[in-house]
Amino acid sequence: MMKKLDTILLAAMVTWASSAMADDGATLDRGRHVFDQWCVSCHGVGDRMPGTASLAAKYRGSIPAALEERTDLNPDFIRYFVRNGVLIMPAFRKTEVSDADLAALADYLSHQKK
Ligand code: HEC
Repeated sequence: MMKKLDTILLAAMVTWASSAMADDGATLDRGRHVFDQWCVSCHGVGDRMPGTASLAAKYRGSIPAALEERTDLNPDFIRYFVRNGVLIMPAFRKTEVSDADLAALADYLSHQKK
């Protein structure tokens, strides 16, 4: 029972923290930094990026293959893939990408205006 309450409280705090950070310029910079550290090697713009190439094949040009050029991404979708991985993409642990870093990253990728 206690454990369940802890989980609910933690979830509420994470939700509050991520909404409090939304749209803040510093958060977007942090999100870009996290992307450059962990994601750009596979999801950068270019032909030799395995993530970008895989998404180009998946969507066949109907949407941009590079994550930073997408306008359809939402934070839950990004969080899901970062924590679970897919195909050759590893799941990232909290010791690598913390919850706060992931919130900033999800905010960054879901607020592209290109
Ligand atoms: C080792 C290469 C690699 C790394 C590093 C990597 N990814 Fe991926 N990612 C992939 C591949 C490959 C796919 C699968 C594409 C597919 O379904 O064809 C993918 C899929 C995704 C998807 C799903 C997109 C969709 O529309 O299906 C998201 C979101 C994503 N990655 C985000 C990230 C983020 C954010 C990071 C950094 C924390 C990251 N990835 C790091 C290779 C990588």
